[in-house]
Amino acid sequence: MCIPRPSFALGRRLESTALHFYQNRQLELYAARETKRLTLRQLVFFGRSMNEDRIVKSANYVRTELPVRIAHRLRDLQALPYIVVTQEGVAKVYELYWSAFEKFRRYPVVTTIAENEKFCQFVAQLLNEHATVIPNLYLGLSLSSPYLAPDQLDSFMRRMLISRISRRVLAEHHIALSEAYAGTRAQESHVGIISTALDVGGCIRRCIDLLKSRSLQDAKGWPQVVIDGHLTCRFPYIREHLEYIIFELLKNAMDATRHRHASSDSLPPINVTVAEGPDDVGIRVSDQGGGGLLNSSCAVKSPEDLFSFSHVRNATRLDDSRLVALRTVSSSQEGLRATVGEQVARWKQDGETDNVALQGSHPKIGIGLPMSNIFATYFGGSLELVSLDGWGTDVYLRVPKLGTNLEGIEV
Ligand code: COI
Repeated sequence: MCIPRPSFALGRRLESTALHFYQNRQLELYAARETKRLTLRQLVFFGRSMNEDRIVKSANYVRTELPVRIAHRLRDLQALPYIVVTQEGVAKVYELYWSAFEKFRRYPVVTTIAENEKFCQFVAQLLNEHATVIPNLYLGLSLSSPYLAPDQLDSFMRRMLISRISRRVLAEHHIALSEAYAGTRAQESHVGIISTALDVGGCIRRCIDLLKSRSLQDAKGWPQVVIDGHLTCRFPYIREHLEYIIFELLKNAMDATRHRHASSDSLPPINVTVAEGPDDVGIRVSDQGGGGLLNSSCAVKSPEDLFSFSHVRNATRLDDSRLVALRTVSSSQEGLRATVGEQVARWKQDGETDNVALQGSHPKIGIGLPMSNIFATYFGGSLELVSLDGWGTDVYLRVPKLGTNLEGIEV
């Protein structure tokens, strides 16, 4: 009897099924491993005195740890309803993660400084390729909001975002350590990407200056920002993370104040208080922008809902203008800028209107507050909003000072 050979197309399909089966098996193996979470203090202690052996060790930690962390998130994506994974944005992130997972998994062991240089180039390229992950995820999950229960959507997004921050911290920290060891990056008061004595008052002042450099259509100007409290406070932290949050909080406070007092002659000040405790650094931002987070026009019922990705909790998630802005950023090569300085440089270059799409914390995209919350909680801090409706808003940021908390990622 003559058994017909499978057609070429069928052969290709079988081959690809076998490949997927094999790849999925690899994914399962990696996803079954536990992540090796670190504390900020461990990152500082390890990076303080580098030699060839430690650079190579750091490279291999990143090489083996990142695919495990990515595998966990790929499994999360696979567990979503099919209609969600096929949404614009989500599918793109899924592909990016598969590709990065495969590349890391196959990357050979790093044994020398020369090999590490190549490894750093490889990691830097991936960091770049993944620049649009966040807007793509926001777009895809906003579109998927009708298909997911709010708790499921919010916990999924939290795991995705915090894990992404963690991977980028490990990758960027290793590159920074390698560059410092090679003498191509100044490491004054830094270990890798961590500032060893971050000047909190300096961060606040820098954010104020950047925000006030925005152009205005009227002569009213920006509200004054009064800083008080423990202004000499310094502690080890990642400057970009702290500044991202402060920048976002101050921007909201300034915009609300200008809006609320649009018809009066003067603007009430914004007060920023720094409180250094034995374990934490607290920062309170108080404005007189009218509060009203919870009033009916604001589409949220509790302050925490502002952090939510679900349209059930925060109706603005499905606003057309947000979706349009998200589409623009998702398809740009730039994605969202990593640091406040970079964001503002871009902002000035593009002018006020384009900034709608490119400025990570712009309300039209609605990324700033939820991302600030994620940044705050990554090493165990918190962000709390209290609205005094009719008067203003107080925001309380708390960041652990000792660096002893493990990264807040979930396995
Ligand atoms: C990300 O940015 O999403 C990453 O996972 C970065 C990593 C591939 C280096």
